[in-house]
Amino acid sequence: MRHADHVGLLAPGIRADEGGTWADLGAGAGAFTLALADLIGPHGLIHAIDRDRGALAELRASAVSSIPMAEIRTQVGDFTQRLELHDLDGVVMANSLHFVEEKLPVLARVRRYLKSGGRLLLVEYDSDKGNPWVPYPMSFGTWQRVAEDAGFSAPMRLASVPSRFLDRMYSALSLAP
Ligand SMILES: C[S@@+](CC[C@H](N)C(=O)[O-])C[C@H]1O[C@@H](n2cnc3c(N)ncnc32)[C@H](O)[C@@H]1O
Repeated sequence: MRHADHVGLLAPGIRADEGGTWADLGAGAGAFTLALADLIGPHGLIHAIDRDRGALAELRASAVSSIPMAEIRTQVGDFTQRLELHDLDGVVMANSLHFVEEKLPVLARVRRYLKSGGRLLLVEYDSDKGNPWVPYPMSFGTWQRVAEDAGFSAPMRLASVPSRFLDRMYSALSLAP
């Protein structure tokens, strides 16, 4: 996938240059962090969190842009544990929740990090069948149930892209109560 694909998956959930404070949980080397940084623009701040220090170093190395974009602060952390985040305008979880089998406790934490009405932008493979690399994926149909069980609004499907790996990847928007 190219940068434009990452931007295309997140863009329908974001107002151009809206700024705000966001977190990208499981940011990895930052494919979606950089897309988010472009979209929310120079008045935004993104906490890019991952348990993989090396991936975050890669993200820092590639976060040099000639166009104005949000500030990115990297942090080594485990999103299944409590993180020092609060009053967020939005959270991105892109291909990271599928590493967690018991999703509800993680989602309960994420909900508490968000402001009322804050956005959770989820990017996942549209499948319920895992494999060694993507152990616990969630189709959009499953996400509709899980999001509501976790206290989020009914997810709105935003976009999808074909994927050679597990067919298709979708993005979806849910709001914190
Ligand atoms: C498939 S990569 C996706 C990276 C990026 N979001 C993207 O879509 O390009 C999954 C990332 O989630 C991270 N991750 C998985 N479980 C995690 C956890 N419990 N806490 C923090 N990071 C985690 C991994 O280290 C990895 O960098």
